[in-house]
Amino acid sequence: MKTPANHREIHLISRPQGVPTQENFEVVEVPVPSAGTGEILVRNRWLSVDPYMRGRMNESESYVPPFALGERMEGGCVGEVVESRNNRFSVGDLVLGNKGWREYWTSDGEGVTKIDPSVAEPQNFLSILGLTGMTAWAGLKEIGKLKEGESVFVSAASGAVGSVVCQIAKLKNCRVVGSAGSAEKIAWLKTEAGVDAAFNYHDTDDVSATLAKLCPDGIDLYFDNVGGDHLAGAIDHMNDFGRIVCCGMISGYNDEKPMPGPANLFKIIGKRIRMQGFIVRDHQDLQAEFQKEMGAWIRDGRIVWKETITEGIENAPKAFLDLFGGDKMGKALVKV
Ligand SMILES: NC(=O)c1ccc[n+]([C@@H]2O[C@H](COP(=O)([O-])OP(=O)(O)OC[C@H]3O[C@@H](n4cnc5c(N)ncnc54)[C@H](OP(=O)(O)O)[C@@H]3O)[C@@H](O)[C@H]2O)c1
Repeated sequence: MKTPANHREIHLISRPQGVPTQENFEVVEVPVPSAGTGEILVRNRWLSVDPYMRGRMNESESYVPPFALGERMEGGCVGEVVESRNNRFSVGDLVLGNKGWREYWTSDGEGVTKIDPSVAEPQNFLSILGLTGMTAWAGLKEIGKLKEGESVFVSAASGAVGSVVCQIAKLKNCRVVGSAGSAEKIAWLKTEAGVDAAFNYHDTDDVSATLAKLCPDGIDLYFDNVGGDHLAGAIDHMNDFGRIVCCGMISGYNDEKPMPGPANLFKIIGKRIRMQGFIVRDHQDLQAEFQKEMGAWIRDGRIVWKETITEGIENAPKAFLDLFGGDKMGKALVKV
């Protein structure tokens, strides 16, 4: 395909107050950059939209710098090298980079890795074999120190991270309970992901009471993707010496004022609970081990995953907004 003169990229044009909207984004047409000496030109094929990007839409600094106003956004992507002036890459190579939210990009190759399409579909390197699969695997192994046969609770359990957490825990012979936001997601968790019990949190105004019924032997490990009432409910039912893996707290990402901490936090003292946050990129040294173990599970058909695909870069903002209340299942991806 001939490289066009112009391409589209998505800019952040205003910072959201509360829940983000389409008005925070703009599709902008700009000239396709050309590859300088030592550079490659890449045509994006797949973009990742992820909850952490919500934090980058705010002005305040978090563990990643904020997106600049009036500038294109960035994020995980898989693309094809269409021009190469760098001897590490050839035209036709598929590469993983962090220059999402646009159709074309250039790079000197720093931070860009080639992917092997014989291993999995290219977009899988943004989901099950990528950041979200790795987050599930590293969070359970390194932070949660999951042991065989434990009782595990997972929130946002049908999502990109949560669905993998549930299945790894099942592979370790654990009893797994998940929560998610629709009947369809609950059905998928029970029939496809093989969890032992699951509940739709919209159907209860008391997560703690629901957990009391679904986790009669308590919880040894809570993998927290949601925070808020899920975290408080889990604390109520944690067993002594349990671990809470703080992966994300999406229920508070759109709050205009910080949400209050769980009123029952003092219980972690008597129960001797270890609660630990983590950032997946701190565990990059384990990437090869992750790819090997996850690759074997995929080959043996021991793990399943879902991807919700939105077509067209102009629809990337909608795919992102759907992370906060849409009906997407598994990993949210945009096909460019
Ligand atoms: N620490 C790290 O390094 C790291 C890396 C990746 C992701 N994360 C975090 O892990 C969590 C999951 O990320 P993901 O990429 O796998 O996203 P995801 O679960 O695929 O998508 C987000 C899901 O969160 C649920 N959700 C949205 N608003 C909610 C609310 N108010 N209350 C309860 N659930 C809500 C929705 O599912 P329902 O329909 O079930 O509500 C939504 O589909 C996020 O908190 C994210 O920030 C952390």
